[in-house]
Amino acid sequence: MTVTIVGSQLGDEGKGALVDIWGGEADVVVRYQGGDNAGHTVVEDGNTYELSLVPSGAVRDKVGILGNGCVVNPTTLFAELDTLRDQGLNPDVRIARRAHVILPYHRVLDGIEEEIKSDSDLAAGTTKRGIGPTYEDKAGRRGIRIGDMLDSDVLRERLEYVVPQKRALAEQIYGLDIANSEHADAFDVDALFDTYAAYGERFREESMTVNCGAYLGDRLADGDELLFEGAQGTSIDIDHGIYPYVTSSNPSAGAAAVGSGVGPTVVGRGEVVGIVKAYLSRVGTGPLPTELDATETETELADFIREKGGEFGTVTGRPRRIGWLDMPMLRHAAQVNGFTGIAVNHIDVLAGLDEIKVGHAYDLDGETLTTMPATTERWGDCEPVLNSFEPWPEIDWAAVASEGYDAIPAAARDYLEYVSDEVGAPIYAVGVGPGREETVVLADPFDS
Ligand code: IMP
Repeated sequence: MTVTIVGSQLGDEGKGALVDIWGGEADVVVRYQGGDNAGHTVVEDGNTYELSLVPSGAVRDKVGILGNGCVVNPTTLFAELDTLRDQGLNPDVRIARRAHVILPYHRVLDGIEEEIKSDSDLAAGTTKRGIGPTYEDKAGRRGIRIGDMLDSDVLRERLEYVVPQKRALAEQIYGLDIANSEHADAFDVDALFDTYAAYGERFREESMTVNCGAYLGDRLADGDELLFEGAQGTSIDIDHGIYPYVTSSNPSAGAAAVGSGVGPTVVGRGEVVGIVKAYLSRVGTGPLPTELDATETETELADFIREKGGEFGTVTGRPRRIGWLDMPMLRHAAQVNGFTGIAVNHIDVLAGLDEIKVGHAYDLDGETLTTMPATTERWGDCEPVLNSFEPWPEIDWAAVASEGYDAIPAAARDYLEYVSDEVGAPIYAVGVGPGREETVVLADPFDS
């Protein structure tokens, strides 16, 4: 069977901890979208591993797959693998031959485009990892795929087609003086060919590439369990998120099928678990109706939550914006993903506050909305209709983690049950602290 783990909000919901916990049951952990814009920390046997691309299961002796829906930066990939090997691990990571490659010019263009947009309110606040420009080339049929790197003639032909276009874009549209910049090699066919042909050779020598759908189909036929590890979150999905302040892939559950080559019926027969943070955090730009920034008291509260929750970007280190939980956003996520269960993280971070609020609905021009409007401009016009919840006290969360759900303060359980009722899915786990062991697990989706 399959279990798909999906972010329900804006990314950074703490998916990694649940992937770690439930991934123990899986034989294969598959990423189906995104690239090294994700970031997670895996703690295993007292060792800490920082990963942005390698699926976390690879740290735990599982096969880790980067599916065809991913965009892969081989430089990041090999650096992460080398670091893991230096730490004494022997990760088994396979890459779909249909996955697209992030090349150095994608990163340069991501940076330039964000810089230009910063004069307007259109900048998405990207991670500058070249994610958007790589997906653009995929859709524009000028991308380079992992499989192309295995055949030097194909690689050269593709580079000779695309690199002059990128040079022209950088020089003639964006005015970059490539020859006199630090980016000369990023736009040079020969330099790119040498580097990426060598990466292709390493992929081949280490038998790292797969025909992803066929490989996963064989594993399923053998009775193996697959865990799909979504990156980012539904509200920054390119189709279902707050466009244009989105990432360029589909973090939502439907992409687990398209981004891996496993049929949608297979994914649909499995479990889809939405990961929810008990409040909102956001690293990028754009509106945020429940944001805590209107008054000095709210800003202080946001500062408190940010510090306590460690709300700083894993990839970029940027301080995250903070808001109350947004229920229309979660109802939208439940609709898009079809959750069979949810996990709610970080309820410990809200402990000890004087008041706890939730954006239960929106008021838009006098009309009450219970889900997100389809355009971000209309979303930005929404005023949250806030419900107050009984606050819960600061307690020994480590004790709660070992004692179980009933040890969670009653007010926090009311909050959790409200969320579960509103999204129409049972609670499978509750995060009560930053560590993997600080999770109250109520169900194992592989046993459902
Ligand atoms: P990109 O994915 O780097 O193109 O960035 C596009 C938008 O997605 C920006 O607002 C980023 O801050 C956001 N984003 C990308 N990856 C993550 C993530 O892992 N967590 C949260 N936000 C992300």
